[in-house]
Amino acid sequence: MGAVSYRRRHAELCKEIKRHNHLYYVLDSPEVSDAEYDQLFRELLSLEAEFPELVSSASPSQQVGAQPAAKFASVEHAVPMLSLKNARNADEFLEFDKSIRENFLASNAELEYACEMKLDGVAVELVYENGILTKSSTRGDGYLGEDITENIKTISELPHKLIHPCPRIVDVRGEVYFNLIDFQKLNRSQEELGGKTFANPRNAAAGSLRQLDSKATASRPLRIFCYGVGRISTELEISSQIEVLRHFKDWGLPVNLDETVCARGANEVLEAYDNFLNRRDSLPFEIDGMVVKVNQIALQSELGTVSRSPRWAIAMKFPPKQGETCVEAISLQVGRTGAITPVAHLKPVVLSGVTVSRASLHNWDEIERLDLRVGDRVIVERAGDVIPDVVKVLTEKRSGQESPVSLPLRCPECHASVQKAENEVVPRCTNTHCPAQTIERIKHFVSRDAMDIDGLGEKQLDQLIQLGKIVDIADLYELNKNDLFALDRMGETLAAKLLDAIEASKAPPLSRLIYALGIRHVGRNTAKLLAKRFNSLEELSSCDKTDLTAIHEIGDKVADSIIDFFGNPEKILLMTRLAALGVEPKPEAQVLREGPLKGKTVVVTGSLKSFSRNQAEDLIEQLGGRSSGSVSKKTDYVLAGENAGSKLEKARSLDIPVLDEAAFLALTEETNNHEGSR
Ligand code: IVH
Repeated sequence: MGAVSYRRRHAELCKEIKRHNHLYYVLDSPEVSDAEYDQLFRELLSLEAEFPELVSSASPSQQVGAQPAAKFASVEHAVPMLSLKNARNADEFLEFDKSIRENFLASNAELEYACEMKLDGVAVELVYENGILTKSSTRGDGYLGEDITENIKTISELPHKLIHPCPRIVDVRGEVYFNLIDFQKLNRSQEELGGKTFANPRNAAAGSLRQLDSKATASRPLRIFCYGVGRISTELEISSQIEVLRHFKDWGLPVNLDETVCARGANEVLEAYDNFLNRRDSLPFEIDGMVVKVNQIALQSELGTVSRSPRWAIAMKFPPKQGETCVEAISLQVGRTGAITPVAHLKPVVLSGVTVSRASLHNWDEIERLDLRVGDRVIVERAGDVIPDVVKVLTEKRSGQESPVSLPLRCPECHASVQKAENEVVPRCTNTHCPAQTIERIKHFVSRDAMDIDGLGEKQLDQLIQLGKIVDIADLYELNKNDLFALDRMGETLAAKLLDAIEASKAPPLSRLIYALGIRHVGRNTAKLLAKRFNSLEELSSCDKTDLTAIHEIGDKVADSIIDFFGNPEKILLMTRLAALGVEPKPEAQVLREGPLKGKTVVVTGSLKSFSRNQAEDLIEQLGGRSSGSVSKKTDYVLAGENAGSKLEKARSLDIPVLDEAAFLALTEETNNHEGSR
């Protein structure tokens, strides 16, 4: 390479890597896979090894992560938080081992290593002073991190106070992560709420931890494993990494000690690696490699650090869960709300033990971004346990025979016209009687979390629709034995069982019916909130937008969708029919207790001396009432603390009775006394 071109390439690499750092660390939204990133980084390192004059403090090779985002206060790490060098294969690890033994050990003895699982999450620092958690930050650029103290405190397994005896000061380092199950749940509920879904558990952890409102973090089941120390006061003599973990455990910190292997010599390290790699897919969380640390602290100190990483540790990364395959077809799926989504059908490929034959393409923007065509060779990657993503199209492998897919003008199932709202990425089939939509709607209606009607699978529903026995949800309740006998393999017993299941579904908890109706953006959680707030479907269907947005978790988009649904004549007819056929939901199980606020809607405003806002709202519920966030003519009382503002004014203008804190306290005491005497 000529002098100009290697300089140019170096500048390009620096710029590109910095851009990816920003996408990954600050925006939690990487564009390339870890493997692609590593490739760029290696190219940078090898270029700098060949031309050392290129190395400067501005090169990403000399930096860690990315600068903290401006939205968080920054925190300086007392001891910099470094990064790790990677070993891609056994040879690279053996080289690392050999170089330490040759350069730092008097005899050529075997080294002792702590082999730990490398969790794929977010690195954090926790400062404990006199045993109390006082500060927590992200790694940031290694020197300055982002202050996430309040967010970290919402992780339930993390002690705010260490068990004594513990050091006067200790900076604990660890990895915040998501269990795979929780990650999938989060994505499902994000989808329901129309929120952003996460590409993998790491992004979910980073996104959840870096919320501005710690309440939002608290709703995410984050976890943490602690694995290292920054600063530590020296009352304690700790001689090895394994001892660090044991102390952590004694102080009450979560550690992955049982999975940490103390290996004697390089061979045992390689065995541990194979073992972790084999178990990778059966662990509850995602690991992307193994971290190997020289166990003896004294030797660690002697080895020290070079630029951005310690010389005493190395990460042995696992091969990415990626593979190359071919897109054989792209089919269009019509969902229950008419959304038409593309799905890639792949030539089956095995990714870390799992055969993959379909990949989700999310939406049309994604197809455009990737420039994906039928017949393309692609790289697919399995992130967590989710359906794999197409991460890259190998355009250089095109033969010219590939065919692009275009936005459909007609529904692939019923040929009705398709509409794409301006602010949406999905086109929708406009025909509500589209058989594909109908079957999806009914499938959803009978599903376990909805009406839970067992025995009606896709095949049976398909047949019933084909035979004209059901056209919409309500028809389920008009099925008789003869209708069912028309189905394949349907005998007397099975038919009777199915009819019983249908009959039994007529009195569901209200939230199930709300969820079952398939209102856009209303998932299980929202349905529960609605059932808590409204006592019946009639009440819900006659509410207005302010009643809905007064529910804390419900925003404009969800509220609009609910209003739309209940204003749609077809849906009104559906609900009338369901009621006429005997479907009668029960109010939710947490039936309001008898109490002085029974049936009353109360709005809390201003600051109260004896309770937090949440406590006051809980109490209102305990007293039989409901709390709401905004004042309307349906509000029965306003509980006003100090410095109450516009809500109090509105209450006065609407002549709504105002309770002060003393009156509210009296109410609660009255109820307590009453309960106490029983
Ligand atoms: S030790 C000096 N141990 O891997 C660096 N790191 O670049 C000390 N990680 O973002 C890191 N599991 O957050 C260490 N058991 C473990 C780890 C671990 C995950 C992450 C760490 C950092 C990256 C290393």
